[in-house]
Order: sequence, then C-alpha cells, then structure tokens
Amino acid sequence: MSSNRDYFAKKASTYDLEKRRVNNVKNIADKIKDSIKLKKDMHLADFGSGTGLLLREIAPYVNKITAIDRSKSMNEVLRNNLDEIDCQVEILPIDLSIEKLDITFDGIISSMTMHHVKDINRLFETFYDMLKSGGFIALADLDCEDGSFHSEDTGVCHYGFERDFISKCAKEAGFEDITVQDASVVKKPYGDYPVFLLCGKKI
Ligand SMILES: C[S@@+](CC[C@H](N)C(=O)[O-])C[C@H]1O[C@@H](n2cnc3c(N)ncnc32)[C@H](O)[C@@H]1O
Repeated sequence: MSSNRDYFAKKASTYDLEKRRVNNVKNIADKIKDSIKLKKDMHLADFGSGTGLLLREIAPYVNKITAIDRSKSMNEVLRNNLDEIDCQVEILPIDLSIEKLDITFDGIISSMTMHHVKDINRLFETFYDMLKSGGFIALADLDCEDGSFHSEDTGVCHYGFERDFISKCAKEAGFEDITVQDASVVKKPYGDYPVFLLCGKKI
C-alpha cells in the first residue's frame, strides 16, 4: 500500500459528521476505558488517529497522545481541532508500516486502522518495539466481513480479521495477557458489522 496517496483526501473534511462513525468510536473508547487502567502521567500513541475521534475521548485520562497518521488531510482536521482536546497532542505524519520510531510509549490505542495495513505481523512487531515494558495495546477493528463495509477505496488490505488470527499475531510479536472482546457494532442499511477490541501487554 503506497504511503504517498492520501486515501482520505475527499473524506477528511466531513469525516466527523457521520453519526454512526462517531458512535462507533465512542463505544470503542468506552471499552478501552473499562479495560485499561489509564493514568494521568501516561504518554500514549494513537495509530491511525485520523481526525482524532478516539484520542479526544481518551485525552482527559492521560498526559499526552502522539497521533500517528499518514494522511495529510486527516492530520489537518485534527490540527484544527486541537483546542478541544484535553491533553497534550503531538501529530506525527508518518506511515507506520514503513517508518520506525525511536521513542517509546506507555500504551498504543487504535480504532478502525489495522485493516489498512498489509503486513499485520510486522505491524505488531513495530507496536512491541514502540512500548516501554509494562506498556499496553488496545486496538479495535472490524471482525471478518464480506467486503461490503467500505463503499470507497480507502486503501483497504483486509476485510476485517478473525479474532484467533489477530490474537496469534499479537502473541507471536511477544505480547502477553491477550484478550479480545466485543467493542461495538456498526449498523449500516445493508448489514451489521461487529468490532472487536484486542488488548495485550508487553511484560
Ligand atoms: C478508517 S480511518 C480511522 C481513523 C480514526 N482512528 C477513527 O476511528 O475515526 C484510518 C486512518 O488510519 C490511517 N492509516 C492507515 N494506514 C496507516 C499507516 N500505515 N500509517 C499511518 N496511518 C495510517 C489513515 O490515513 C486514516 O486516517
């Protein structure tokens, strides 16, 4: 998947107007808050932060969030909304499937982004390297679907994931205490699309 193309260029400005999208991310954020002990001194990374729908929900509970996204247009929307976000935010405009970071985090959160990355095993290795020991992952994405979830080409590499497969990828990268649970259901006129939350720890 090329890192040069901005797949969200046409969607970014109206991205936050879709109610079911905002509600889905709220459900995911609630599940993260229920599952992870967030602390006011934590520095998190949000992988595929987009316009900031997830990080704005998590912000009041942590110190800082590094927003990682390769889309210039999504980063621009987030940048314009920074005043409304209740923690420090740093925007890193990079493609995490290609670039490596030399900082480490207390945790990595993500919503609806992993299905845009081809090599999931490598992504989990990158997540592992990005964490301090004791750090967590809390990653939400679609369960397996039939390809009907996306009506436009936004750079989709996977039609959701089997929960066993995604847990195995996390385990093989070194994560422990792995859990996968229901996080949300996106209801579209032509079908329901369940979303899972995978959590794990770097010991
Ligand atoms: C479907 S959007 C989700 C945005 C946000 N997390 C939400 O739930 O509203 C996926 C986002 O991930 C970003 N993305 C996809 N692959 C990426 C990669 N390899 N590195 C960085 N960002 C990526 C896209 O640019 C897009 O903004």
